[in-house]
Amino acid sequence: MPMETCRPMSPLAACLDAARAQTDALFAVLDPEALYQRPVVDRHRLIFYLGHLEAFDWNLVCRGTLEQPSFHETFDKLFAFGIDPEPGGAPADQASDWPAEREVRAYSARTRQAFDNAATRVPEQLLHVAIEHRLMHAETLAYLFHNLPYEWKRGPAPAESTAPAPANQMVEIPKGTAVLGKPRGDGFGWDNEFDAHSVSVPRFQIARFKISNGEYLDYVRSGARPPHFWRQQDGQWWLRGMFGEIPLPLDWPVYVTHSEASAYARWRGGSLPTEAQFHRAAEGASPVNANFERWDPVSVNFPGGTSRYGVEQLLGNGWEWTSTVFGPFPGFEPFPFYRGYSADFFDGNHFVMKGGSPRTAACMLRPSFRNWFRPDYRYVYAGFRITHTV
Ligand SMILES: [Fe+2]
Repeated sequence: MPMETCRPMSPLAACLDAARAQTDALFAVLDPEALYQRPVVDRHRLIFYLGHLEAFDWNLVCRGTLEQPSFHETFDKLFAFGIDPEPGGAPADQASDWPAEREVRAYSARTRQAFDNAATRVPEQLLHVAIEHRLMHAETLAYLFHNLPYEWKRGPAPAESTAPAPANQMVEIPKGTAVLGKPRGDGFGWDNEFDAHSVSVPRFQIARFKISNGEYLDYVRSGARPPHFWRQQDGQWWLRGMFGEIPLPLDWPVYVTHSEASAYARWRGGSLPTEAQFHRAAEGASPVNANFERWDPVSVNFPGGTSRYGVEQLLGNGWEWTSTVFGPFPGFEPFPFYRGYSADFFDGNHFVMKGGSPRTAACMLRPSFRNWFRPDYRYVYAGFRITHTV
């Protein structure tokens, strides 16, 4: 369901309610049997997330900050953190290792109630953390659900498109200054968004549209591996949408890994934009196909959201990979209550993604927001566009 935008004046408690409604609705999409599946090998079984969304808020606020006593230490620990293993380090637990859904739901209901009882004493910054943490999971859970067999979830069939891929011109971005990050004292941001700083960016060219399935198909026909979201049958290409398969829509953005995006860009004689180049190209951009409006993409030339330089869809319809390795901005300080949120990923093995996907909440479409994944994580709703130096 599309989500009401959390405006600065609306009470944070209402935003948390809306975020909870979003994740509750998401779990309602599933057949109960699916809860014990692990649709993505590098992530936990889905039952983990049913407990995690509440355990995180409880551990952070009620236990961590307000020092309330635990009523279920085992679950507090079991559901505390997700995983992002090194390649080859996928977990090996069995479905039977996890508690019953009934027990997890009882724990979740009790922790949610405890959080609400304490709500007036919760620092504003922690409320933002709870809200955005939950909304990030609303998105990453969709990636996991995407990989379940269709009989285990219910939702709207994807729209089909028979339009050809539009011609994708290069747009010139003049030399200028990109402002990355967020000034302190200017509203909520995660630790990795600080400090704001300016970067001088030489003139460059960037593709007007995200790279489309049609453009990428030429590359696959030249021998490249097809993306995770595609399937070939009897010589026809299909796209695996969230709730059904459709003939490959050539005018939709292709979703690929960072490695695939980089290789494609090289094949075209270009490269991926840096984080600073993305900021330059995205000046003045507004959202398109984001904030849970749809489950699947729309055409790369779906109108709206054009940036100041005429570049389309830099906020929504699929994250965009950059060539920038995820790292701290000058002046970075980890949140004392969540030290590992970003710092655990400053390992040279994660790349910055910018923009947003159809399942990214409105509050995280702010220009300073940074997302990151491993270069071969293939489940994320992320595409790319190419740049040329001039
Ligand atoms: Fe989490």
